[in-house]
This record gives sequence, C-alpha cells and structure tokens, in this order.
Amino acid sequence: MTEAWGPDDDEPRRHHGPVRVRVPAKINMHLGVGPLRPDGYHELNTVYHAISLFDELTARPGDTLALTMEGEGAGSLALDETNLIIRAARALAARARVPAHARLHLRKTIPLAAGLAGGSADAAATLLACDLLWGTGMSRDELAEIGATLGSDVPFLLHGGTALGTGHGESVSPILARPTTWHWVVAVADGGLSTPEVYAKLDALRESPFPPKAVPGADDLMSALRQRDPAVLGAALANDLQPAAIALRPELSGVLEAGQEAGALAALVSGSGPTCVFLAAGAADAERIAGVLNAAGICREAVTARGPMPGARVT
Ligand code: C5P
Repeated sequence: MTEAWGPDDDEPRRHHGPVRVRVPAKINMHLGVGPLRPDGYHELNTVYHAISLFDELTARPGDTLALTMEGEGAGSLALDETNLIIRAARALAARARVPAHARLHLRKTIPLAAGLAGGSADAAATLLACDLLWGTGMSRDELAEIGATLGSDVPFLLHGGTALGTGHGESVSPILARPTTWHWVVAVADGGLSTPEVYAKLDALRESPFPPKAVPGADDLMSALRQRDPAVLGAALANDLQPAAIALRPELSGVLEAGQEAGALAALVSGSGPTCVFLAAGAADAERIAGVLNAAGICREAVTARGPMPGARVT
C-alpha cells in the first residue's frame, strides 16, 4: 500500500527527545477463515476496524534496549526478548543496521490475549517510535513489511481506519467509505484465549460431523459500510472464529445474548476472542448497553469505543 504518512508528514524524521506513539486496538467486522496453509497460517478474508481503545509507547534514547510497562498485564507480561515490543525494535534495528538502543515504556490499556490485537498494536507502535528515534527513515510500507514478520495484524495497526485484510491478514488495503463513526461496546472477559488454539479448534470443528456454517463473503459488509445505517452494518457483521471461541469458552454465548437483550444491533466475538463486541445505534445507546453489562457482572468490564480510528501515530 503506498499511502502517504498523512498528518505526520511534517514530522521531523529524527527525534532527539522522547517519541510518544498512540496505537489503537482492532476488531474484525468480518472474519472469513479459509483452509490451513502449509506454513501454519489460515488464509483470511477480513475487514479490520480500529477502535478508540489505545496503548501508548514512549521511546527514549538509551545505551541498551530496555522495556518497562504499566497498566493492563503489568507483572504478568514478560518484558524480555520474547516480548513483541523487543522483537519489533530488534527487527527494525537489524533491517536499518543501527544499534537497538532505546528505553521503551508501555502504558497498556488494551487487554492481553483478548482478540483485540494488543500485542500487534504494541509492535506497530514500537516500529514507528524507533524509526523516528533512530532516524531510520523507513516508509510506512517498509515498516509494515517488517511488522508482517512479527504478527499478522501489525501492518493494519500501522495504517488503521477500516481496511480489507488478505493473505494471513498481513496484506492490507484501505476501504474507502463515507466518513461515519460507529459506536461499539467492548466486553472484556476474565482471562485470555490463545489465538493458535482458537484456530486449531475451528479446524477440529470443521472436521466434525456437524461443522459450523462458514460465514458468507465480505460483500454485504462492504456495501453496508457505504451506507450510514448501523442496523444494516449490524446485519453484515460475521466471524468464522466465533463458534471455536464459544466452544472453548461456552459462557461467551451468555455475554452475546445479554448485549443483544440490552438493545445492541449486533453482537460478535472479536477476532479469536474472548472479548465480545456490540454495535450500538449511537453513543448514548452504547453507554446504556455497557452499563447494563457491567451491572449484570457478566464480563470483567464493558467499555464504549468508537471507530474508525487512525493507526499508530506520534502524539
Ligand atoms: O500472526 P499472529 O502472531 O497473530 O498469529 C498467531 C497464530 O495464530 C499463528 O501462529 C497461527 O497459529 C494462528 N493464525 C492462523 N492464521 C492466520 C493468523 C494466525 O492460523 N491467518
């Protein structure tokens, strides 16, 4: 994708002080999962949508590569070489042939292993922040190419908005639609789900005597995006991973039902789950539905969010 840097075009290409980057979470408005490929990934046809739930990554000059964090998952998320942020910084440094020296700090709001691509979001933020800190001068497409080796959702989180994802999700093209703000309720669950386990569960269900019905193509969703009616959009939301996530966490059915009974236009599992998302008719409706879900104590926390949002950006 050869998109300009947009509002950041005037950014100096090297920062001497701290670089602070804000990055959104994603949901999948449509997630069609094809067969398992020989490389261990499934072929995808998905519509990504960036929502107003953000992590913030700050990069400062340093003599080594160090990572600290606060917020969601602090104390449980490993901050060593296995962390996607450290891997992203090292991958960029290797490509640009610069020393991977930076002090990185993550303020985390996006829950872990939630189906909201929090890890990929942090990798996207790291690529952008370190590119500016080190003055490596990569284009967004070059950062996306490095990002694709780290996680399927990283290229989308560099771009943001609403976009079609193909390949294993790493190949992204923006969807041009009339500017519309969609209002969501995001019901975060206790505990996470492992993405590979959810994909493996879907493969097993598809081999079973009663395989789940595959979701239709994304055409209805694409035409719904061109209209401004949330009820039309709601009818077109679909996720092939939903039956697999529910098979692993049966209580998600109750969460989806509770949101619909509270007046949501549509309810679906976000990505590989266990987060459930609900489309609301407007901002006030979203607040009301989140209130009902919180009062019912049916999930860890229900919050409201808007979309689409830009991808990783310097603040
Ligand atoms: O790329 P990402 O790190 O998000 O993928 C995590 C795992 O999820 C992969 O190793 C694979 O098991 C599964 N996956 C898949 N097909 C995709 C994306 C992810 O099977 N398109």
